[in-house]
Amino acid sequence: MSERIEDTMDHHHTHHDGDAGSPADAQAFWDARYGERERIWSGAANRALVDVVTGVQPGSALDLGCGEGGDSLWLAETGWMVTGVDISETALARAREESAARGMGEDEVEWIQVDLARDFPAGTYDLVSACFLASQIPLPRTEILRRAVAAVAPGGMLVLVSHASAPPWAGNHHHGPRDFPTPEEELAALDLDADMWEITTAETRKREANGPDGERATLEDTVVVVQRR
Ligand SMILES: C[S@@+](CC[C@H](N)C(=O)[O-])C[C@H]1O[C@@H](n2cnc3c(N)ncnc32)[C@H](O)[C@@H]1O
Repeated sequence: MSERIEDTMDHHHTHHDGDAGSPADAQAFWDARYGERERIWSGAANRALVDVVTGVQPGSALDLGCGEGGDSLWLAETGWMVTGVDISETALARAREESAARGMGEDEVEWIQVDLARDFPAGTYDLVSACFLASQIPLPRTEILRRAVAAVAPGGMLVLVSHASAPPWAGNHHHGPRDFPTPEEELAALDLDADMWEITTAETRKREANGPDGERATLEDTVVVVQRR
């Protein structure tokens, strides 16, 4: 079971759409968040991404908000040439250390510090993924997702995985209406040209996870996969 530590800890991130805060604030927030522990996430790849990508011919991949690199490392080991980007140097240092420990070179996985609120990696990719790309610091998520669409090479795909609802242990913490996008909302944000894109998946999927006190619960992810013709 490859559940995320995130499911047990991170009850309060939000999908703000709007003006980005100051870049220093966003990086400081995430560096501090990662600095709270030696490791925040489980290190395992996200189940939904693994399910979607398994069996797809590997090519180039861009992992947006890669964090400590669980998805990027899995993709690289599956044969993809991966670019993992994140705002947090603390997270990227962990990812870099792990890929070096596994003997991976820069031709297999490279890690780049990017504030996606302001900048976006150049080029196009056969796979672009954004798994739980959310922040408590305002994040222009729709704008980022549209740039992600533009970064998909012909024949390539875009994979979005988000929380569809709060974990039961999240308590009464306030969540905004856009914190848990539905598949329809994700698709609307992408604003795809129907002639150029095929919607492969737009659904919520359940998975089992452990809460902070070890309680089991079923969590729901919103999973959207679109393929460029
Ligand atoms: C909830 S974590 C998800 C990490 C990883 N994708 C996963 O599924 O475990 C969100 C990630 O987005 C990154 N992030 C937040 N705002 C960002 C920004 N403006 N630019 C780039 N990355 C950002 C954070 O540093 C964090 O690693």
